[in-house]
Amino acid sequence: LNRGNLPADLRGCRVLITAGGTREPIDPVRYLGNHSSGRQGYAFAETALARGAEVTVVSANVTLPDPAGATVRRVGSAAELREAVLQERSGADVIVMAAAVADFRPVNSAEGKLKKDGAQPQPVALAQNPDILAEISQDRTHSSQVVVGFAAETEDVLGNGRSKLAAKGCDLLVVNRVGEGRAFGTTDNQVAVLSADGSVADIPLSEKADIADRVWDSVVERVTNDAS
Ligand code: CTP
Ligand code: CA
Repeated sequence: LNRGNLPADLRGCRVLITAGGTREPIDPVRYLGNHSSGRQGYAFAETALARGAEVTVVSANVTLPDPAGATVRRVGSAAELREAVLQERSGADVIVMAAAVADFRPVNSAEGKLKKDGAQPQPVALAQNPDILAEISQDRTHSSQVVVGFAAETEDVLGNGRSKLAAKGCDLLVVNRVGEGRAFGTTDNQVAVLSADGSVADIPLSEKADIADRVWDSVVERVTNDAS
């Protein structure tokens, strides 16, 4: 891909992107986590910057270098990610929820490190985290805001994606076909972009930056349509 040929079609556009994976504390040294590297979210940030956007990244446990020119807010847990998104979203024209947000958190995070003191280990009781994507989609700070969600599906990818798009209420849903060594920790992805208006755009196996650019193409159409 020749980045020099990219249009500055996101100039003046304020973009909020979540990236990485949340960690839900069990005690001060342990957590429930996931394998998200933050590469896809950071690719969204870098491609948006290249197309002229103003970018804020809410970054959950990502070890990649900060995208040059972005404002980066670091968070750990889903609760912290939610707080940061609720604080940052009012200025955003586009919100991209690329982070892998934990569905569940331990009900109690122990104040001290849990010890294997000879007794039987206790099960970790879990509570469900609020669905941040559904919350920001269904109760928007302004009506022209474009909200992009993600889904990782292993089967009936389009069917599950459609249901998820409707349930969340976002404008676009980027569906990852996971399994067979794809998605987590890899440099390539295979995705379909589902739109609330019913259209589907298939993106063949591509680098994450190219996937991000294809999704930005869909976003730009919506931002422009709203403005005209
Ligand atoms: N998401 C979120 N808040 C959560 C969980 C997920 O905002 N508590 C967002 C993710 O950032 C992603 C989208 O929701 O953009 C879909 O995540 P996914 O895990 O595929 O969907 P879930 O609704 O959690 O459904 P599932 O039971 O399949 O995990
Ligand atoms: Ca989930």
